[in-house]
Parts: sequence; structure tokens; C-alpha cells
Amino acid sequence: MIKNISFLLLIFCFFDISLSAQYNPLHIPDTLSGTQFNLTLIDTFTQLRSGNQTITSGVNKNVFWGPTLIFNQGDTVHMNVRNNLNDSTTIHWHGFHLPAVMDGGPHQIIPPGTIWQPYWKVTNQASTYWYHPHLHQMTQEQMTKGLGGFIIVRDAEEAKLALPRTYGIDDIPLALTSRRYDASNQFVFVNSAYGDYMLTNGTPNAEVSLPKQFVRLRILNAEMERAYNLGFSDNRTFYIIGNDGGLLNAPVPVTRMILAVGERVEIMVDLGNDAVGSVLDLNAYNSGFALGFPGGEPATSGQFGSLLNNTTFSVLHVIIASPTANGITALPQTLANNTYPTAADATVNRTLNVTGGQGPVPFSFDNAPFVFSKINKTIDINTTEKWTITNNNIFGHAFHIHDVQFKIVSRSSGAVAPYESGWKDVLYLPRSESATFVARFTDYSDDIHPFMYHCHFANHEDGGMMGQFVVTGETTSTKEVAPLPIEFTLYPNPTDDRIYISFNDPSVEVYYIRLTNASGRTIYMLPRPHWQAGIDVSHLASGIYMLQLTDEKTKEVTTRSFVKK
Ligand code: C2O
Ligand code: CU
Ligand code: CU
Repeated sequence: MIKNISFLLLIFCFFDISLSAQYNPLHIPDTLSGTQFNLTLIDTFTQLRSGNQTITSGVNKNVFWGPTLIFNQGDTVHMNVRNNLNDSTTIHWHGFHLPAVMDGGPHQIIPPGTIWQPYWKVTNQASTYWYHPHLHQMTQEQMTKGLGGFIIVRDAEEAKLALPRTYGIDDIPLALTSRRYDASNQFVFVNSAYGDYMLTNGTPNAEVSLPKQFVRLRILNAEMERAYNLGFSDNRTFYIIGNDGGLLNAPVPVTRMILAVGERVEIMVDLGNDAVGSVLDLNAYNSGFALGFPGGEPATSGQFGSLLNNTTFSVLHVIIASPTANGITALPQTLANNTYPTAADATVNRTLNVTGGQGPVPFSFDNAPFVFSKINKTIDINTTEKWTITNNNIFGHAFHIHDVQFKIVSRSSGAVAPYESGWKDVLYLPRSESATFVARFTDYSDDIHPFMYHCHFANHEDGGMMGQFVVTGETTSTKEVAPLPIEFTLYPNPTDDRIYISFNDPSVEVYYIRLTNASGRTIYMLPRPHWQAGIDVSHLASGIYMLQLTDEKTKEVTTRSFVKK
């Protein structure tokens, strides 16, 4: 027995010595598809480095990051988000065009122990999106712990193209981020903008085998602040095929590309001429940037320093493997047929200035740090707007807006580069520059619930570099508000399965239903529920519950109780 153990130790030592670097197999998140998605947010822990395990958060069975959700354009997707964390949170569907009340921004708070059930019709184009927590002043902490996940949208246009599409084989999602650890291996997020160690899909020193053919990488910058100047270790050309919100009209060849926080890019890289068994790195060429590039600061420690700052480092080690049957061996010459709005289409022009950032004053927009109750902009539905964001400031930022995909129409630094010529929801705004985008605000109006715009650096956003807008569908002067309670009854009562609602006025539209238990704790939050089919309460514990119903027109709240058997 003792002999066997020392033999095993000998083998481990042999492998330790034989590997020049310690790589770990890249984690490929599992996928969920269909139209019903169950996401349970959990506090957990995992072994990320030698020594103590690290306290993390994950989704479903995952100990860091969550499953990749696969949506089909045109489907109505129903989300079942159960918050089993110890804290309140929110889950935002980054990049999606949907009603504000389903958006999962800072206002759609999910208390611990509660289920939130938003749903919407997927109208976004095929691309790579993501979900992540968005609780104000808690975003950096909750994202640092690992909450988040990819969303892949498929559509008929994209399906017609000869693109790599076998998830985890030739179509690989890559969430790039880094973490700093304290002496007991716990994540550091207080007064810390940058991690010291790379995590790719939550894997330290990630390595993956990719087939000898064209491979598609869906890359997300899931950092708190750092930007990545991506490229391959042999400086080979790769092809940008998609931006945040869809395919480009045609592939754009590059050898380097800056990806700021929150941005996604889909690339194709040709591994067809590489020898099986040869290696290649996807690197961040982050050395040599002047002050203002996020992660270019020279310090190796402290609030704005990091071991990865101003260096070149690997984000993914690639080993070339045998080609797959029917792999993609050519790059399509055309991809999509987008028609983008132009500056001339805009009927409303807005400006935003980056302010703050001096000494202890946090960054903000227009010297107005985020206030929960203040709507900063009101947009009429079906308006095309032009927004110019000016950064006469000391540092770069990543500007993001909810609800829409926009088109960057100009930059003060020169022409808009082809690699960012597609649909975008985040733009990198270097210091001393301004950028202008055009977007059209359609479909979803809501006078009360706002959408956000903010810097996607989690620390800047938490610090107040955020504003909010409502999209209004009618002018308030023409709106008749009759603040009368809605008359309704619940049946059967008591119930052991479903609870149904009967309205005295059948034209009532339900805006929101909240179920609370007898001690007032929220159990369910149901935005615009399909109440006609009844609400499934079968798994609730026996007892008395309150159903609070908010009327769509008046936003009046009426409460009724029922008994769960
Ligand atoms: Cu990715 Cu407002 O967020
Ligand atoms: Cu967003
Ligand atoms: Cu910022």
C-alpha cells in the first residue's frame, strides 16, 4: 500500500517536472436551450489555486459563472431566476431588446429566497450576449464572485452561413476576466480594479485543444475594468465576424483588437495550416499603452496596479488537434445584410460628458452621479437618437446602454474602424476622445421603469457613473389616470396547485404580481404574468400568502390573500 502511494507521488512529480507551464483544461459551460430556463443563483466555493478554496457564486451546478443559454430568435423565453444567495441581487440580460420591467437592471431586485420570472420575445439578431448581476453598488462584488453567463442567439440568417457552430468543439465561448486573491485565497474587490491572475471561463491558465480548421471564438470581456488588446502569439491574421449585437456584413481581418469591458466579439481563426500537436496562444498585448488604457497602469499592486498590468499575457493556450469531419475550411465572404441608422436619421441629439475622477471624486456623467429615483433622460418611443459621449478626462471608459443596439457613426479620433462597424451595445471610449452613436428606441414604452446607461467598469458603475432613461409611449397630458383599486378575487381558495385570478373588469391588464408569505417576505415576482393560466403555487409551503397585483394603466397595487393547503 505504502509502495503504491509513493509510486503515485512519483508519477505526479514526473508530470510536474515535464510540463513547462501548468495548464488546466478550459471549462466549457454547459448549455440550456428551449423556452423555459431555470437559473438558480448559489453561493459556493471552489479550488482555484493551491491552498484554501475560494468562496464563489455560480448558477445551477456551476461553481463560477453559469450555463450558456441558447435562444432562437422569435421564441418567447421564460426565465425562472431563483435567488439562493445570501444577498439580494438582480440578473440583467445584457444586450437584449425587451420591456424595461424584464430587463433585470438595478430596479428589478430579487430578494434572497425569491423567484423572479421575466419573459420576453427574442428579437435580437444571432450573436453572443450575456447575463450578469446589476444590483447597484453590489455589481462589482457579485460579478467578482463569478455570477454571470453567456447567451447565444441563433437566427435563420446566421443558420444559412457555413460558420463553425458546434458548441465546445469549433465554436467556443471565452469569458475573459482576472482576479486578485488575498492571503487566504479569497477574491479581493474592495479598492481593487484589476485582478492579478487570469481566469478564462473561470479556469486559471486555461488550455484547449482546437481542431485543425476554421474555429469560431465568442469572446466576452467579463472584467471589472481591464481592456484586452487581443492577438495571437504568431501575429496571425484573424477575422472579426460579429460585434455585440450581430454579424458584420463581411469579415474584417485584423491582427490585434481591443475589447473593453462588456464588449463581445466573434472571431474566426484559421488553424488549417497548423501542425497537429503544435501550440498557439491567444494573448492580451497590454504592454506599452499610455496612461488611460484600462490595465495599462504600470503599478504591480495597489488599487490601480496588477501583476497583469502593462504586460503581455496568455488568455488561452491552444493545442492544435485533428480536424473534425465536415469542419469549416473557408471563410464566408459575406455574412449579413445589415442596414444601419445614420446620423442623418436622428431627430434628437443628446450629449453626455464624462466628469469626476479627480482625487476621491468618483467618475460620473454630467456631474450627476446616479440617483435611484432620478430619471435622467426621457425618450419618445419610435425616435431615432444620436448620442455623443465626450471624455475630456484622464481615463478610458466602456459606455453601455440598455434596450438598444446602436451604430457608432463617428469618433473624434478618426474614422470608425471596420472591426466595430456592426451592432454595438458597448463602446470603448479612450481618454480625450468623443464617440457618437445612433440608436432607434422601439416597441417597449414604460413611463415608470427606466433602462440604464453606464460605464461598464463595475467599480465605476457602482461608484455612480450611471444614468437612467424611460421610453415613453404617450404624453402624460393625454393619459387618464384613475387611481382606483382593481377589483379581483382569487380562486380556488384554499388551493394546493394553482391560484386563478378573476377580475370584475375584464379589460384590466396586469403589470406585476408579487407573492409574499404571511411575514411579508417576497416569494415570487412576476412581471406581466400570464395570469390567465393561473399561477403555479404547488411547491409553496402550506400557509397564508398575499398576492399583490399592480395594474398596468394606473400602477395601483391591490392585495388579496389566499391559503396554500
Ligand atoms: Cu451589462 Cu447595465 O449592463
Ligand atoms: Cu446591459
Ligand atoms: Cu468608467
